[in-house]
Amino acid sequence: MTQQRYTITTALPYANGPLHLGHVAGVYIPADIYVRYLRAKNEDVIFIGGTDEHGVPITIKAKNEGVTPQQVVDKYHNIIGDSLKQLGITLDVFSKTTSKTHFETASELFRRVADEKSDNWALTIEETLQYYDEANKQFLADRYITGTCPNCGNEKAYGDQCEKCGTTLNATDLINPKSTLSGNVPVLKLTRHWFLPLNQYEDWLKTWILEDHQDWKTNVYGQCKGWLEAGLHPRAVTRDLDWGIPVPVEGGEGKVLYVWFDAPIGYISFTKELLENDKTRKWEDYWKEEGKSKLIHFIGKDNIVFHCIIFPTMLKAFNDDYILPTNVPANEFLNLEGEKFSTSGNWAVWLHEFLLDFPDKTDVLRYALCSNMPETKDADFTWKDFQAKNNNELAANLGNFVNRAFVLTHKFFNGAVPAYSVVEEIDANTLALAKEFHGKVSESLDKFRFREALSELMKLSNLGNKYLADTEPWKIKDNPERVGTILRVALEIAAKISVLGSPFLPETSKKMATWLGVASTKWSEAEKDDLLTDGFVIATPELLFAKIEDDVIAAQLEKLKASKATAQQAKSTVMPQKENVSFEEFSKMDIRIGTIIEAEKVPKTAKLLKLKIDTGIDQRTVVSGIAEYYSPEDIIGKQVSILVNLAPRNIKGIESQGMILMAENSKGELAFVSPVKEIDNGGGVR
Ligand code: 2FM
Ligand code: ZN
Repeated sequence: MTQQRYTITTALPYANGPLHLGHVAGVYIPADIYVRYLRAKNEDVIFIGGTDEHGVPITIKAKNEGVTPQQVVDKYHNIIGDSLKQLGITLDVFSKTTSKTHFETASELFRRVADEKSDNWALTIEETLQYYDEANKQFLADRYITGTCPNCGNEKAYGDQCEKCGTTLNATDLINPKSTLSGNVPVLKLTRHWFLPLNQYEDWLKTWILEDHQDWKTNVYGQCKGWLEAGLHPRAVTRDLDWGIPVPVEGGEGKVLYVWFDAPIGYISFTKELLENDKTRKWEDYWKEEGKSKLIHFIGKDNIVFHCIIFPTMLKAFNDDYILPTNVPANEFLNLEGEKFSTSGNWAVWLHEFLLDFPDKTDVLRYALCSNMPETKDADFTWKDFQAKNNNELAANLGNFVNRAFVLTHKFFNGAVPAYSVVEEIDANTLALAKEFHGKVSESLDKFRFREALSELMKLSNLGNKYLADTEPWKIKDNPERVGTILRVALEIAAKISVLGSPFLPETSKKMATWLGVASTKWSEAEKDDLLTDGFVIATPELLFAKIEDDVIAAQLEKLKASKATAQQAKSTVMPQKENVSFEEFSKMDIRIGTIIEAEKVPKTAKLLKLKIDTGIDQRTVVSGIAEYYSPEDIIGKQVSILVNLAPRNIKGIESQGMILMAENSKGELAFVSPVKEIDNGGGVR
């Protein structure tokens, strides 16, 4: 059979911290299972990964730690790479977006579309107003700015994206923008940038995704549909920053490529690095139409728009015969013990720490994360569930079946694989059922249904257990042929598990194949009934999965709680003092005491309340992001402080005439700043 070529990519994590189990469950486990499956089928696969080393998250981390961005990315690139290797993620290349090849590739591709004289000219240039931090003398791109998401009211949305509702934002969309560098309210300043005119590609994207890719997962297709129906706008692909790939064309001084422009190009650069010295394959085989490779991106849901809309538009704009993704099987998010993973809140199980604590449990982790993969909706990792999966599923089902088959073979045949003798109906039926699993597991994997595929594998193990329970070979007296046939059937099932299990549980499968003398673990072997050789002496069985005791799990839960408490303490340190202001500057702010006379929720938002305030001057409407802390009926009649001369702003279609002052504690909870005794409305605050 002719081989199909595949280019499989894993989202490049920012090299500003180690990986946690959320990254692993969402991206690396499904990708590695899929790749191992393809390789077992003898397909021609390259498996690409690496770290995303540009962008604001890296510079923020460097600033916080007092080191250079390069030092940050070098440290985490190595930690991430080592832990992935230890988990058995079989990437063919694990590179970084600070590599020379990547620098050259990204620069060349940018030039290709930015050059006004070229046939491939695609980018537009616009002078736009961007936020600028006057204290730090710096434009505020992406994560250097936070504010309230205009879509969902999340007050910690970033200048490029709201992590709560997933909306991609421009910094100027944020309500109450604040510089994360100084905490100051930024000013708008003119600057020049290159834009990818996504709007010009909208019709093409609609056909390509909405008509031609109805086979994509519903969560992916649905997000794309939402985007395309809302209408696309030109998107800036350069930034005023000093960390990144310098804009390689005239007028680009002091600017760099937007991290989301350069990062996905990393998939191409890393392929070049992988095949640089390869005599038989070239990178174009895996990236250009002539190679007919299938491009599949494994990512988390926050990356969907970039991989389904922006990167394909870039590839199309390059106008150089690049392939487009065949599929983007994005996952939703994994939570931890009911809460979102949080790097800053230290609510995470870090992969490298897991591997230190459980060096021989990599397959167990792969199993636990695959059987609980956030494929169609968010899922939850709990330590109790991890223990249960190990003890009740791997040890009690799979491990127990294999162990019984091995022990009995040693007891009755000194470990030599018995030949089939008379095959009775129950044997034939069991073999026929077992044969079906090759097709079942394949079909699920072909559809990127990893949980389903793994559960089929476990059903095969169930079948083996049931068969032994039904036939009870240990009770059969004076009929070695019968016992032999039964054990042969059982061992053949174990052999099939070693083949079909290899993408999911590589270590276990390898062990089983070696113990059983399975010569070839190619995928098609699992269709056979005679993977084993008569008379081969199988190994003395060892326990495949040791039980995990309660105290081990309790210790992990303790560790998690303790690290969260430490992070909270660290966070509760008081915000540094801002730059001095003159008394004149301060006096410009007109703050008054007012009374809330009406309050109601702003429809379709989680956080916003619409208030009517008697300010003493007038009665006016103010929109405030306090719905999480106050319900409308409880606050009528309350006195609050209000900045009355803040320029009116439109929030969710309502004109807000002023701002209620709020005090914030270390957990981000808000409380009114109210006078301790009643003051006439309109009384000044100084
Ligand atoms: O979301 C992230 O962590 C990004 N660093 C993913 C980049 S994927 C790719 F395009 F490189
Ligand atoms: Zn939002």
